[in-house]
This record gives sequence, C-alpha cells and structure tokens, in this order.
Amino acid sequence: MKIAKIIGREIYDARGWPTVECEIMLEDGSFVSASVPTGISRGSHEAHELRDGGQRLMGKGVLQAIENIENQIAPILVGQEPDVVSMDLAMLELDGTRDKSRLGGNATLAVSIALLRAQAAIESIEPYELIAYLCDYNSVTLPFALFNMISGGAHANSNLHIQEIMAMPVGPQSFRECLEAAVTLHHCLGQLLAKDDKMHGIGFEGAYISRFDDERQALDLLMKATEKAEKLTGSKYLIALDMAASQFYNRKTNVYEWHGLKLTSEDLIAYYEKLSKTYPLFSIEDGLSEFDFNGWATMSAELGNEIQLIGDDLLTSNPETIASAIEQSLVTGAIIKPNQIGTVTESLQAVKLCKEHDLTAMVSHRSCETNDTFIVELVVGTSAGYIKAGGPSRGEHLAKYNELLRIEDVLMFTLLNA
Ligand code: PGA
Ligand code: ZN
Repeated sequence: MKIAKIIGREIYDARGWPTVECEIMLEDGSFVSASVPTGISRGSHEAHELRDGGQRLMGKGVLQAIENIENQIAPILVGQEPDVVSMDLAMLELDGTRDKSRLGGNATLAVSIALLRAQAAIESIEPYELIAYLCDYNSVTLPFALFNMISGGAHANSNLHIQEIMAMPVGPQSFRECLEAAVTLHHCLGQLLAKDDKMHGIGFEGAYISRFDDERQALDLLMKATEKAEKLTGSKYLIALDMAASQFYNRKTNVYEWHGLKLTSEDLIAYYEKLSKTYPLFSIEDGLSEFDFNGWATMSAELGNEIQLIGDDLLTSNPETIASAIEQSLVTGAIIKPNQIGTVTESLQAVKLCKEHDLTAMVSHRSCETNDTFIVELVVGTSAGYIKAGGPSRGEHLAKYNELLRIEDVLMFTLLNA
C-alpha cells in the first residue's frame, strides 16, 4: 500500500514550546503519526534542530521544518510503499549536510518514525517487531529502567550540579513490578522531602527539585527513601548519575567549576570513586565534558571496570563518533537519543554498534518531550537493555513507562498462547 499524503504540523511539547509532528496517510485512508522531543543540555554535535528564529514564539517556531516536510520531503516519498531504511537514505541525500541542517533533524526524525509506523501497519506488525526485523534480531526484550528521582544542573534552578540522580530497581521479575518499585520510591522520597520542608516541586523530567547543602545531602536523602521503599516493595535500588559535565566545564581554562572550586578531571574522577564507595553507584553519564577527551581516557582506565561510563553529549548517538570512542576505549556505554542523530535508521545503527562491541546502549528521552513513545519501540525492538525516560510522574514520561506495561502484557500473552 502506498503513501497518499504526508502532513507536517507544528504542535507543542510538554513545556509549551513548538515541536514537529508528522502524519502519513496511506491509500486506504488510514494514518499514523509521530512527534519529536527536544533537549535543554545538548551536545554540540547533535543533528541540527531547525527553528524559525525571529519574533514569533521567541524564535522557537518550527514552520520552516514543517514546510520542508510538506514541500521537500513529501514529493520524493508520496506514491511509494513506505520503506523506512531506503526512505531515510533518500532524506539524507536530499539534505546533503553532515548535521541535517538543511531539512532539520526535527523534520527528518518525525518523518522517519512515521514511516516506520506506516510500514509496520501495512505489514500488520508492531513497530518494535519491525525494528527487530530490520536489525536482524530474532527476539525482542524489555529493558531495565533508570528513573530520575532528583533533578539538578540545567534542568533545575537549584544549587545541585548533578543534572539527574536516578534509581534503577533491581530484583523485580517484570516491568510492572519494576515500575511499581520506582513509583513507590518516588513517593517515599516525596514524603521525606515534604517532612524536611524541602519539597520545591517536580521538574521537566518528572523528578523532584529541591535545595540541598550539597550533592551528598541529596544522595543521602535518596538512600533514606530507598530504605523505606525496599521495605515496601522488596526491591533493591542502584543509583545512576547524569553529571552533564560539559555544563560546568570551562573550555578556556579546562577546569570544572564546582561550587566555587576549580576541579581538574582527575579531581572529578577521584570524587566519583569516593561516591562509589558510599553509594550503590553503578553508572555515570557524561562524567566529564564532551571536550575533555584525555580526561575520558583516564576515567575509563581508572573507573571503567567498576562503573558504567556512559557518553551522551560526548557521542550524540552518532555511529561514527561511537565507533571512534570505542577505538579509543573512552566509554563503556552510549546514550541513544534518536533526535541527536535524526533518523530511525541511524538510531538503529548506533544501538547495533554498541551491542556488537559489548557497550551498554541506554535509550533515552529528552527533557522536553511529547507523548510519543518511539524510544520504547526502539529499546524493545533492538533489545538495547536500558531505558531512561525521566521520573515516574507527569504524562509525557508515564506515556513511555505505561507503553512498556502494555508491551509486556502483549509479550506475556503471546508467550502463554504460543
Ligand atoms: P536534555 O538532557 O534532554 O535536556 O538535553 C538530558 C540528558 O542530558 O540526558
Ligand atoms: Zn545526559
């Protein structure tokens, strides 16, 4: 069945900023749609997000991206059977830039996800099943999940430098139990914050925002909450941090500006080592700046055997950059954010590359989301292993976690009736 029409639409994300939606209508009148998120603490080599500039919507409008979908991309795809891989390639050729700055990564990704869904619909399979097929995998798997509990850094107006303090339930036998453990922890932490008069609200990522004396005070309170939650759920919790260290790195002086101190990468590595002795810390994302390659090499040599060292801004989900980081042994894992790279096909390549080199692939949302659940389709279809989609609060985050509950039910039903 062929594509009858491709429509672009300017919609609004969970923070009320414009973003891109794409709708593909098939010949039989059925349609699928997709929308894309945006980030606040962005890596400098991400696919270009096309914004209109000017006065309207403080320059953040996406009408040019919509125009590109309808007047440049649609004419080369309409009238053909949806085929996400070859059509992604066609869009890359049409764009012709390294960073998708002509068409906009926000335009290409919205079309790409819609193409995946259109192709899956025609073949009467789920998008995650089509992803597994495209990757040549013969099974699909639900992920472990890292839930954001406390927001800091660029995501909060607080004095906390750590951007995300996350917890991962370990022990649950199903995603349903895992989510229950996360929700319980979230509420236990909320009660402790309220009791200490420290409840300042919930941030963009569905995690708490508060004022702490320092990072350790925040971690200590989270540990207190895990003790309470462990009693209620029987689940244990591991801790993961997203330091987003490029945010407090001074490129001119090559130091990290940390609460009035000027730290070297060695100082930060020593700090992480100490934290890992006190807390059940299993993963650190962007522990150093995306510009501090030597620091990453040292960190990887010193901590890589004990802690997952995940690159986000450092790698920007780009298969070429991931390959070079693998060659230099800079990381033990990569964040995969589809909108950093701009097509489904390249996102699949990034996950495949990680899996082939025993690197952890952690599929991630952005801090300004819509209710689109593509990252769930991606993590399940590629069996990537890990997802982080914010705290278990606010609709745009629960949209992902609730979708995982639905997929788990479908997979269980299929297994029981096989
Ligand atoms: P962003 O940050 O979506 O605001 O860029 C999330 C992250 O750094 O993981
Ligand atoms: Zn990050």
